[in-house]
Parts: sequence; C-alpha cells; structure tokens
Amino acid sequence: MKKISTSVVLFFAIALIVKGQTDILIPVSTQNTDLIFKVGTDNRLYQAYIGPKLTRAIDNKAFQRPVHLAYVTSGTDNLFEPAIRITHSDGNPSLELHYVSHLTEKPEENVTITHIRLKDPLYPVEVILHFKAFAREDVLEQWVEITHQEKKPVTLYNYATSMLYFDAGKYWLTQFHGDWAEEMKMQENELTSGIKIIDSKLGARAHMYQTPVFFLSLNDKSNENTGELIAGTLGWSGNFQFLFEVDEKNALRIRSGINPFASEYSLQPGQPFITPSFVFTYSAQGKGLASRNLHRWAINYGIMDGGEPRLTLLNNWETTFFNFNEEKLTALLDDTKKMGLDMFLLDDGWFANKYPRKNDMVGLGDWQENKAKLPNGIGYLVKEAEDRSVKFGIWIEPEMVNPKSELYETHPDWILKLPNRPEHYYRNQLVLDLANPQVQDFVFNVADGLLTKYPGIAFFKWDCNRMMTNTYSVYLKDKQSHLYIDYVNGLYKVFARLRQKYPHLPMMLCSGGGGRVDYGAMRYFTEFWASDNTDPLERIYIQWGYSYFFPALAVCNHVTSWGKQSLKFRTDVAMMGKMGFDIPVNEFNEKELAFCQVAVKNYKRLSEVIWRGELYRLISPYEENRAVLMYVDNTCDKAVLFSYTLNSRYGETFNNVRLKGLDPAKTYAVNEINIFPGIRSIFPTKNVYSGDYLMKVGLNLTSFQPLTSSVIEITAE
Ligand code: DGJ
Repeated sequence: MKKISTSVVLFFAIALIVKGQTDILIPVSTQNTDLIFKVGTDNRLYQAYIGPKLTRAIDNKAFQRPVHLAYVTSGTDNLFEPAIRITHSDGNPSLELHYVSHLTEKPEENVTITHIRLKDPLYPVEVILHFKAFAREDVLEQWVEITHQEKKPVTLYNYATSMLYFDAGKYWLTQFHGDWAEEMKMQENELTSGIKIIDSKLGARAHMYQTPVFFLSLNDKSNENTGELIAGTLGWSGNFQFLFEVDEKNALRIRSGINPFASEYSLQPGQPFITPSFVFTYSAQGKGLASRNLHRWAINYGIMDGGEPRLTLLNNWETTFFNFNEEKLTALLDDTKKMGLDMFLLDDGWFANKYPRKNDMVGLGDWQENKAKLPNGIGYLVKEAEDRSVKFGIWIEPEMVNPKSELYETHPDWILKLPNRPEHYYRNQLVLDLANPQVQDFVFNVADGLLTKYPGIAFFKWDCNRMMTNTYSVYLKDKQSHLYIDYVNGLYKVFARLRQKYPHLPMMLCSGGGGRVDYGAMRYFTEFWASDNTDPLERIYIQWGYSYFFPALAVCNHVTSWGKQSLKFRTDVAMMGKMGFDIPVNEFNEKELAFCQVAVKNYKRLSEVIWRGELYRLISPYEENRAVLMYVDNTCDKAVLFSYTLNSRYGETFNNVRLKGLDPAKTYAVNEINIFPGIRSIFPTKNVYSGDYLMKVGLNLTSFQPLTSSVIEITAE
C-alpha cells in the first residue's frame, strides 16, 4: 500500500523543479467524485474542490481564489490546526511547503495514484502527498511521506495523514463509540464553531472507546438513502485522531491521522516518515451508498483475501472457557462435523506448563502445549480434526504476557512497564515491546513456530486483551515518545512477515471484543471479532454499527448461550455476517440440532450473497423497534433479507418493508428459510412478486412478537 514504485522515484529524481507555476490543477478522481488541488500564485498547494464529479472538463482558470491550504503547515501564517508541525535541527519551528511537481500513475485500469511533491523553500524538508483513487468503488486512499536532508534530526509534532476542507451551511458528525461489550454505538451531532476531536490513546489497539470511523454530513443530517456526506476511516492499529475544526468563516477542516498525543518523533536525515492511510468515500445518496462503496473497496483491496470464502466454525471459548482436555475437545470436533461446520477453533487455555494457563492470571507468553490438558500436543488434535474432515484453528495472543509466566521471568526487558512505578494490569497482563526487533522476532516465532510444527493448522484467532498504561520501553531509551508509533509499525512488520510466508492463512483479528478493527490491520486479516457481547439483541446494534464501514464477510458473529432469545433468533442474528457457533452442541435437543444443521446449509448456500452482495439497510433499530436489512448479489438474481423484531409496544404498527437493489423487471420467488421445526412459516405458500412490486409495495414480514426474526431468500425466476 505504501510502496512507491521505481518509476515514481525516477520521476522525482529528474523532475523539473517548477518555480512560480500557477494555474496548475491536479484532479484526483473516481467514477463519481473529484478532489481537485490547485497551485496558487504564491506557489502553495490548495484544495480547490471536493464533491460530485464535475461533468464538464475544467480548465485551469477554474477555482480562481482557492483559500484552503492543502497540507497546512505551522509556524508561519496559519492560525488554525496544522497538518504538519516540525522543529528544524537549528531549532526553527516554522515550515513552508511549496509545490514542486506531481505525477500520476495507473498501476491498473481501476486505480490511479497521484503523488504531489512539496518542499520548504528554505530548509531541505520535503512532503509528498499520495492519493490512490479507486474508480469503480468511488473510494480514495491517501497518505503522506515526510523526509528531510538536514544535518541533524528534525522533530515532528504533527504529521497528519489527511487534511480535507468543506464549505457548507452546517456539518453533522456521526461517530461510533462504546466500551467492552458495547461497541459501535452510533451518535450524530451538529458541529459548532471550534474543535471536536475523536481519538484514542490506547496504544496497543485503535479502538474500544472510540472507533476510527466517522460520517460527516454536509448541510443536513444524512440518512440511509439521502444526504451528502463523506465516510472516513483511518488504517492505523494504534492511537488515532480525527479533528474537526469549524472556523470563523464556517469552513470545516478535518484532520485525520496518528494521534500526536505524547508522540513527537525525531526524524533522522534521509529516513522517511510514512503516515498510515486515510480511506474515504463521498456519497450524495446517504450512508447506504457510502457503506456499499467501502464494502466493495474492502473486498477488492482493503482486507486480506476479500474474494475468498470464509470458514464456518465451532469455537470452544464459551462452552469450556479454560476447562478442557483432549477428550472434551475431541467431542467438540465430533460436534463440528455433526453441525456441518468447516472448522473447530481451539481458544485460550491450551498452553503453558510452569504456570499452566488455568485462568487469565497465568501463563500468557509461554506458548508450549500444556501437558496435562493436551498430553499428545496440538498435533494430535490437528490429526483428529483431519480424520473428521474438519479444519483446525487456534487462538494466540502473542503480544502479551502475564507476570506469572516464564516469559516474564526470562525477559523483563521485553515488557512495557515503567521502571520506577508499580506495574499496572488490565486483565492481569502486560504488553510486550514490539518496538524492539527481538520482540518482533519472538511474536513472529509464536505464530510461525506453531505453523511450522503443525502445518495442518488452518486458522489463527489473534487476540489482544489490553491497552497500554504505565508504559515505558527499555529498548527505546531516550526516544520514549516514539513508542506509540514504533509499536504499531513493529506489529505490522510481524504481520507482513507472516503474510509473506503464509499469504492465505485465514486469521481473525480479536481484541477482547471489537477493540481492534481498522483497515491498517485488516490488510493482514480475513475477519475480526466484533464484540465479546454475543447477546443477539445487543449484537443487532453492534453489527449494525460495523456494517457502516466493514463488509459482512469480515464481521465474525457467533451463536452462543448469551441472552434468553430462541436459538432461531440467535442463529438468524449471527447469519447476517460471518457465522460461527460457540455453544454446547451436545446439549441441543433433536429439533435444535436439526434446525442448526439446516441453518448451516442455508448459510453455505447463501454465503456468497451475504459476504459479497450489496448491503441495503432497510429499517434501522435506531429508528424503530425492529431491524431489517438485505444483501443482493451483483446480478440481482439472488437476495437474502433479515428481519428482526426487537420489541413491540401496545398498538405498535410496522409498515411494509420496501426492498431495495432488485431488478424491477425481474420476477422473484420469496421464501422464508431457517424455519424452526414445527413452526409455521410467515410465507407458507409459494410467493412470487415482481422486483418492481417488492421495491414499491414491499412485504409485510415483521412479527409483533419481541425478539423474533425471519430470514427470507429471494430468487429471480
Ligand atoms: C477475548 C476474546 O474476545 C474471546 O473471544 C476469547 O478469545 C478470550 N479473549 C480468551 O481469553
């Protein structure tokens, strides 16, 4: 993503330094969006336009007086939040950036990359703004590269990825916040004059309290199908910051990037500082279109193997917690097969001997099989899985350590902790220092060691159950303010090494729930664990929240014993994303087992539509006592609709649900699936409707019974 091709390097090497050139327009365009820069008479770069694509060719006399400096600096005449702030090696705290040159590449038909080179006229400091435009998806990705050739290091205080400007009457910000087990709560507020910041300071993960995603609507609040907005997200698995500043002229600037909090960075001459990517899409048709743009981009470019199938699975975490042995696990392998699932996933608790991992207070860091629980090792389980034709996956949390572990005893210098204050625990554990290359090797070897010894391992669940507190790196010595950045870059090095060796191993990103999903990490992961809260009622809101920014195939939803709802309701909720089970299958009665077996078959038949179809959120749980959404494949031949009744009040009415995304000219068979044995379908007979009817009149499919659901399969005849 961040590699600059040789042709570009060559171009910059031989580029003519353009002095005093004005009227240069630099468009960055997708199929429906234009972001246009202009070089001003002062040789600075301005953002001239962002919005719907301008249909007529623009000449270079357009945008006569642009006012928004593209990557605004600090220390000279800027009075608002800068994109970049540095102190030069001579102590001078000012920076000016003038346009030097730009270049556009087209590595593939759908992708255009634009590089704009800026330079300080007085100091040898250079900034390159990179923009990658994905035409069909209508998505833009941008990042920045900062270098200098001063004699000594310069200090970076701000180093934004992106600075975008908008001029509208009003601005509405939709943010997603929460906590453990209550992720992705959506809130929309009007921005007023001054600054609003959404950020995280958790260090070892991006979110938990605030998620690195937002919608910014222009003029009016936007809804699902109307309204002008951008949807933005930062690909960075650590401290992030989005800053929204409304100035005295009611212009809005949005600064996105790594959180500069406690992170001044000393940059050596010649060493590039490359920011993470900001990914965004512009929509003039509400949040629904923005989500579909991002989903398509994620599937095609943003997440690991977006075009590949995902594995349905049985996980043992909520069934056994730490209390298991070979016999119990072998029985779960039988259950995996019986259910028709692809894989068994062995969770936490399988390792450590000096301090056996019997609970979350011990053993983390000691990645050898626990001999009491698994006398025949992981290899035995892999073989047992193979004998049953199911795959075997395993949980690891290699970035962390319990104080009660051999790793803690042997490598205290590998652990992030203040030398002169008490250790501070969260889930009884500490974070390893991934800024240290030796620790990077260790973490890589945890994963690689397992895969080398047991090549049959088909999946990793990579967990991360705490953030950084009382943090200090022995390795970084007097560069402590590099830690938040070097940690994440160290982690990415490990992921990149793993991906080089195991390019297609499916891996689930997990962090005590949905604390670590962002598009920086998702380049290496096929999916993520959305929340530890698996109560299906809560899950509807949580999954609804993620659906705005992440495609269904990446959102892991498990059927568990949380919540008092029926097994059908729990299954129907899990099915709207990447479905798995984490429930004692051996306690199912005959009907429950039969229901689940059929649901798994239904899911497999329809997974292509759910994973890669276009998502239409039809009725929001934030607006009604129900939630309805559907996925439609790209031929408009197949669709799946999920309808959930959350509650119903006395006298409540639920209107028909009008479908979306179908072909009005086609005729569709509409069938209810996932019917629990013995229960009557809401569509007992064959139902055939035109697409036109389904989208204009709609279906009456919502039950008034709280916590009930229906799944509807829609097939063109
Ligand atoms: C937190 C995860 O979210 C759970 O699914 C489980 O893997 C536990 N960690 C294991 O410790």
